[in-house]
Amino acid sequence: MANVAVIGAQWGDEGKGKVVDWLASRADVVVRFQGGHNAGHTLVVGDQTYKLSLLPSGLVRGKLGVIGNGVVIDPEALLAEIDRVTAQGLTVTPDTLRIADNATLILPLHSAIDRAREGARGDKKIGTTGRGIGPAYEDKVARRAIRVADLAEPDTLSDKLDELLRHHNTLLNGLGAPTFEKQGLLDHLLALAPRVLPYAEPVWERLDDLRRSGKRILFEGAQAVMLDIDHGTYPFVTSSNTVAGTAASGTGVGPSAVGFVLGIAKAYSTRVGSGPFPTELHDATGKLLGERGHEFGTVTGRPRRCGWFDAALVRQAVKVGGIQGLALTKLDVLDNLPELRIGIGYEIGGEIVRRLPASPRAQAAAVPVYETVEGWTGSCRGARSWADLPAQAIKYVKRIEELVEAPVTLLSTSPERDDTILVRDPFEG
Ligand code: IMP
Repeated sequence: MANVAVIGAQWGDEGKGKVVDWLASRADVVVRFQGGHNAGHTLVVGDQTYKLSLLPSGLVRGKLGVIGNGVVIDPEALLAEIDRVTAQGLTVTPDTLRIADNATLILPLHSAIDRAREGARGDKKIGTTGRGIGPAYEDKVARRAIRVADLAEPDTLSDKLDELLRHHNTLLNGLGAPTFEKQGLLDHLLALAPRVLPYAEPVWERLDDLRRSGKRILFEGAQAVMLDIDHGTYPFVTSSNTVAGTAASGTGVGPSAVGFVLGIAKAYSTRVGSGPFPTELHDATGKLLGERGHEFGTVTGRPRRCGWFDAALVRQAVKVGGIQGLALTKLDVLDNLPELRIGIGYEIGGEIVRRLPASPRAQAAAVPVYETVEGWTGSCRGARSWADLPAQAIKYVKRIEELVEAPVTLLSTSPERDDTILVRDPFEG
């Protein structure tokens, strides 16, 4: 029985929440492996709407949730989220949530640096969520991060804070931002420790046990391949690897345990934050997609930029992300448009290429090459079988499959969990 990893195939916000929720009902455990509370999933269950940022979505379905070592954890945000969903009736205890004791912590100084640096970048800003994600990953790689297990050792915390503050206060000073003093941070961490530590353990061992007893593991990705620190539209990316390989390194299971890789893609494209977006629309159609698709960021509330489906970009995500099947979402947003365009490549310096180059200048200069296809009359909304879809919508999906070189194994046709067309069960591999 296969495990499943779910990753975004564009720039995030592809509707992973619904697909993960749907798959979580068939899994035994749901595991986050990268990112932090920059992610945002909205889950609608009955009359409750849950907004999750850091907690694995499976908790909503009563499944064990695991936060792996590859995640950066803001302990204050974690506890606030636990309190929020507990008030909505969910049960989050050390029996239902486990956190890697070797995961990196986000401290208040990380979001301060994040925001100060974005401010200093002016119109060259990345458009980060301001939640300290990048600075926390930088500390991890620089080997000065405070990790979950350190919360149990006040002396270690004290020593590490000396090193962290030497580095960060110098930076904050240089950026003209207020600095931090050690005692305040130490008190802050020591006050949070008793609430965080009961969740901490070496999760790799639990995952190994679960795997060997035949349990189904769902690896829940955050952000998306085009925001990957290596493979995305650098530097307009997040600070972690978002590709499926990270499900292994970000949790402590081997690569063979990751299982089937399901990529999520919207039937059009959106992006929040800055950075290249070749098929972006600045016209009435772009506005229409934004309105129909309710395209506002879950975490920051920012309006998302909208554009046509970019098959060249998703094909690239399929290849580098290890995507074996696609879940296509929000097809209904394209209902009743007379014609649709699909990006099939880019013209760069007089040459037509099928991939986004690494250079930011070339990315910014990429002019999309389109194929125009007929739209459909009638609605895809709520369809639960191919027979419910207009013929032209099926053609659109089939053309996407050809262009991105991956099968569409799942179609989502409304925010409702059951409005889904399953072509192939990812847990069957
Ligand atoms: P950071 O992850 O806060 O450093 O932000 C870096 C870039 O990733 C910005 O363009 C953000 O808008 C984008 N980003 C981060 N998390 C998400 C997400 O969950 N969905 C979509 N974009 C995201």
